[in-house]
Amino acid sequence: MATHLTSLSSADVRELTTGDDLDPLIDLARRAFGPGAVAEGPAAEDRRRDTIGAAVADQRVYGAFADGQMVASASWHDMRQWWHGRSIAMAGVAAVMVAPEFRGRGVGRTLMTEVLAAIARRGYPLSVLYPATTPIYRSLGWEMAGGFSVVSLPARSLRSLLTPDISRNTQGTLADEQAGGLHAAPFARATPDDAAAVIEVIGRAHELARQHGPATRDVASTAAWLADPSLYAYLAPDGFLAYRWGQSHDIRVERIVAASERTLRELWSIVASHSSTADTVAARVGPADPVFWLTREPDPHISFQEMWMLRLVDVPAAVESRGFPMSAQVSLPLFIQDDARETNSGLWELAITGGRGTLVPHPEATRPLTIGARGLAALYGGTPMASLRQAGLATGGDPVADSELDGAFGGASYLLDNF
Ligand SMILES: CC(C)(COP(=O)(O)OP(=O)(O)OC[C@H]1O[C@@H](n2cnc3c(N)ncnc32)[C@H](O)[C@@H]1OP(=O)(O)O)[C@@H](O)C(=O)NCCC(=O)NCCS
Repeated sequence: MATHLTSLSSADVRELTTGDDLDPLIDLARRAFGPGAVAEGPAAEDRRRDTIGAAVADQRVYGAFADGQMVASASWHDMRQWWHGRSIAMAGVAAVMVAPEFRGRGVGRTLMTEVLAAIARRGYPLSVLYPATTPIYRSLGWEMAGGFSVVSLPARSLRSLLTPDISRNTQGTLADEQAGGLHAAPFARATPDDAAAVIEVIGRAHELARQHGPATRDVASTAAWLADPSLYAYLAPDGFLAYRWGQSHDIRVERIVAASERTLRELWSIVASHSSTADTVAARVGPADPVFWLTREPDPHISFQEMWMLRLVDVPAAVESRGFPMSAQVSLPLFIQDDARETNSGLWELAITGGRGTLVPHPEATRPLTIGARGLAALYGGTPMASLRQAGLATGGDPVADSELDGAFGGASYLLDNF
């Protein structure tokens, strides 16, 4: 049946339910992202359908309908993202797609407006997405805030990592003690049954390292990832490694995270053991990953990089739930303009002390720092205030406050997960 459309309204967008046919969704994904985006082979397609089915059951998939036919869809992953030692519920938006013949008529924006409202209703303070195009997301308050990068190096380079510099390596500075000295335990191959333990171990490593941005997913998605037969995963009490073979004599490390120096070394040694048959290793790591300080020669280089966008869905909760450096001291009036989430708008008092922040309504202020939803997202992700001002994302305030904000929020944020 031919479908006619001039425009869609919010009434045409709804949450998918377990009774909905998934075939139109799969078809939309193929048309939007190409055949490889969905699955290769029947077993992979079955796993993909299971994952989508689980997301539908968890009420995380939305569709837009015209004459009863699904013409667009978007969903989110249920994630937790680490910000300076504390984790926050984050909706990782993905699979935003509009049928080709319905594009450019406002369907995508109508859908994403409803998805943002649903994410807010579900209580997520934060949302992240990887943009294939930015205008639609910027118009709803997402902004570039962090990076995803892959570092490549010759596999042989990992066989002879530098030994610890004993004279400078103060014992226990990162987690040797906090991790409970558990690193001596043998590593086990991780199975889907270990999903909860994997999430726990990765999260603890991010917490102890006070990292900005890395995230974990829910147990079911993590179990599905671990069930992929082409993924090889190892779990230690304070570290986790997951990798797979690439197409051309290369190993792709999807996660290498450890809370202690020794565990990290052991995990890299598993990867290094492939150097007889793998030429290169490509690993998803953060911008200050220890690997840059572990190789003898300057072999690691960034071979792939892209940025993700952040949205502070509930600004007071996003400020109160994250961690800040213990040294950060901020107390300033902040005027927020958030057209898509009015509850965030208005004059606030931002206070940060003792590693914690609060945002409470402020009665009045002269020349407060004025910032929109986009600038706030970029600031939260660690973008320097000078960059925000030069990009037209902040005005008002004063240089002293800028310096304090840089000290509180600054630091490159990154994800190790791409979605
Ligand atoms: C990207 C996509 C979801 C946008 O949906 P849509 O219904 O076409 O978008 P809308 O008509 O609501 O337009 C929203 C804004 O996005 C802009 N936009 C839409 N498609 C765009 C494109 N391909 N490139 C750049 N901007 C685009 C529109 O111009 C509009 O911005 P404006 O108001 O400033 O002019 C849709 O084109 C699509 O499914 N593309 C293929 C899959 C994809 O790229 N998904 C995004 C993954 S992050």
